[in-house]
Amino acid sequence: MNKRRFLSTAGGASLGLMFGPSLLAQYATKPVAVVAEDEAFWAAVRGQFRLTGDYINLENGYYCFQPQPVLDAFIDNVRSVNLDKLRIRVRLAAFAGCSPEELIITRNTTESLDTVISGFDWRPGDEAVLANQDYGSMIDMFKLQARRFGLLNRFVDIPMDPKSDDEIVMVYANALTQKTRLLMIPHMVNITGHILPVRSICDMAHAHGVPVMVDAAHTFAHLNYQLPDLHCDYYGASLHKWLATPLGAGVLYVRRDRIEKLWPIYGDESLPAGDIRKLNHTGTHPVHTDLTIERSLAFHEMIGSARKEARLRYLQQYWTGRVRGLKKIVMNTPTDAKRSCAIANVGVQGTKPADLARILLEKYKVYTVAIDGAGVHGVRVTPQVYTSTADLDTFVQALKELAA
Ligand SMILES: Cc1ncc(COP(=O)(O)O)c(C=O)c1O
Repeated sequence: MNKRRFLSTAGGASLGLMFGPSLLAQYATKPVAVVAEDEAFWAAVRGQFRLTGDYINLENGYYCFQPQPVLDAFIDNVRSVNLDKLRIRVRLAAFAGCSPEELIITRNTTESLDTVISGFDWRPGDEAVLANQDYGSMIDMFKLQARRFGLLNRFVDIPMDPKSDDEIVMVYANALTQKTRLLMIPHMVNITGHILPVRSICDMAHAHGVPVMVDAAHTFAHLNYQLPDLHCDYYGASLHKWLATPLGAGVLYVRRDRIEKLWPIYGDESLPAGDIRKLNHTGTHPVHTDLTIERSLAFHEMIGSARKEARLRYLQQYWTGRVRGLKKIVMNTPTDAKRSCAIANVGVQGTKPADLARILLEKYKVYTVAIDGAGVHGVRVTPQVYTSTADLDTFVQALKELAA
């Protein structure tokens, strides 16, 4: 983004409030990799969050605290009952890079992806392909279709540290058959932080005539991309994770030509089969969360997608680089920096994940989450834009002591 455009965006204007015009002008021209290590910039971002000094929160995978401007907008919106959902939808679609006619606001990834899974006209013998490392709720939804309609689910295992994109693509390619009707892939594996080569997998699947549904719970507003980059057919994400909206906001994208054949969960005879809003008939529900998406987008754009991704990757590499290779430390995240971003997973040999998470919290006041399944044994560590390198120093020191 050039300097003039940067300064003229809403994000640029808010950055101006945070940094003042002269510092802002400096940041606008600095390369993202330089800003990623500029602690003064990130301290200003951190200042937008109300944090407790009681513990260091490295569990931002569940959801992210709202920055104060977002929380203020949320509370204002609770007082307002005027929902202009269309405006928010149009804004969100522009951010995602798709048409508003292919996107709806949902409550979360679960609702988005389960709408797709249950929207297929499954016949006995039809097959779906998914991974053991996928999120449990979607796995369960596929299992439900198996019980109800005789769907056959084929599970693959995603290698932890692939040598190439092709290795991952082949894992999925080998599971496809003449009967495969849907392939589900995680954009980022939630337990390891592994980023999959989504576009290559989609292209391979399409060559076999198989549509692809992407679980992007952990990449929307985390990685710097636009939806068409992925070449997928269906896509779901939660906005309370990396976009830091209040809890209960998500997005569902369905490629235009796939909308018509998808059955909605809730009936709505007023809309044509090709109108994506037919999938959004959830009845009356509170509007303030949806309205606040707009402020979350403004806060995100103030930081900028490229700067945010670079900072989050820098933070992860900052701590993993200090412990990777140490005796008894087991990394459960790919070594190749481009295959992960904020999320990483680490284990200490001889310590159960639940014990590791408990000791980290009780003794070191560092909050992580234990992962003990699907071949992954460790704690998931998820910094956010407000995480400081000093927080990570505390965590690294704790790990070193525990591994010693
Ligand atoms: C990969 C993945 N998919 C889906 C979900 C479900 O998200 P939500 O509970 O917001 O629907 C999660 C939650 O952590 C996740 O990690």
